Amino acid sequence: MRKPTIISVVNQKGGVSKTTTTANLGAGLALRGYKVLLIDLDSQCNLTQSLVGDIQEGQREIAHCILEETSLAPVILPTKTPNLFLAPAGEDLTGVDLDLVNVMAREKIISLCLSKTDLGSFDFVLIDTAPYLSLVTVNALVASTHYLIPTTAEYLPFRGIERLQANIEKIRTKLNSDLSLLGVVITQYDTRKAITTWIEAALKQVLEEELFSTRIRTNTKFSSCPIEQQTIYQFENDQQGKGTEDYLSLTTEVLERLGLTNKREVANE
Ligand SMILES: Nc1ncnc2c1ncn2[C@@H]1O[C@H](COP(=O)(O)OP(=O)(O)O)[C@@H](O)[C@H]1O
Ligand SMILES: [Mg+2]
Repeated sequence: MRKPTIISVVNQKGGVSKTTTTANLGAGLALRGYKVLLIDLDSQCNLTQSLVGDIQEGQREIAHCILEETSLAPVILPTKTPNLFLAPAGEDLTGVDLDLVNVMAREKIISLCLSKTDLGSFDFVLIDTAPYLSLVTVNALVASTHYLIPTTAEYLPFRGIERLQANIEKIRTKLNSDLSLLGVVITQYDTRKAITTWIEAALKQVLEEELFSTRIRTNTKFSSCPIEQQTIYQFENDQQGKGTEDYLSLTTEVLERLGLTNKREVANE
């Protein structure tokens, strides 16, 4: 059976558009005809709140799958986008890191849950992560084929990328030799800020082809669309919208980097 491409969206910084990128890259892939599962692995539950709203009291969520080492299937929800599904997070995810500490093979629990989930019809799994390398984030990276780093063009996030890459290198050598960097994308891009051009040039020099050519421009609509649980495509409702244009451009680049263009090619693999 063909296995899905599993992409963790990571950065040890908060506020760099990890959640926004997981939602809108995921929805971009779904719009291109791929079946996509998003997993919310941040206990702030922002991805869940952005796409389906808060989960109900007593509703089962990703934390329960991790703690019970079970399939994700029973918790998966549809979203307002066809082909786009979500394994939601709830409050119980907050304590999971501590609960995992004494579990055998504690870095491989998400991999185990995914191996128990029938992912046969999914082409992609995208994982939104917390802004630190918690045990849950390490679990995400161990379960992934790729990781994608969103960063703003600011000094401290720029300096953080080196440390992040060094930490991920340790995971690659010890736990998941198949893990590869899909790319780094600059978000909240605004050339009116003097620092932007300076950091952009530095990122280009350090990362070379690992830096996506797409820039996700600053756009206040990104903070409004979660209110309606909409993606940027639904919120702008306009192919000319700049958020739509930017995330579709990133989607195209991601597909190109994976050697894919449309759903038919995947099906024929
Ligand atoms: N391109 C953008 N332009 C303007 N605001 C953005 C953009 N991307 C994300 N945001 C906003 O910035 C904040 C942080 O984004 P978020 O995706 O939650 O980051 P993270 O998950 O890395 O913490 C949110 O309020 C979000 O709506
Ligand atoms: Mg987030």
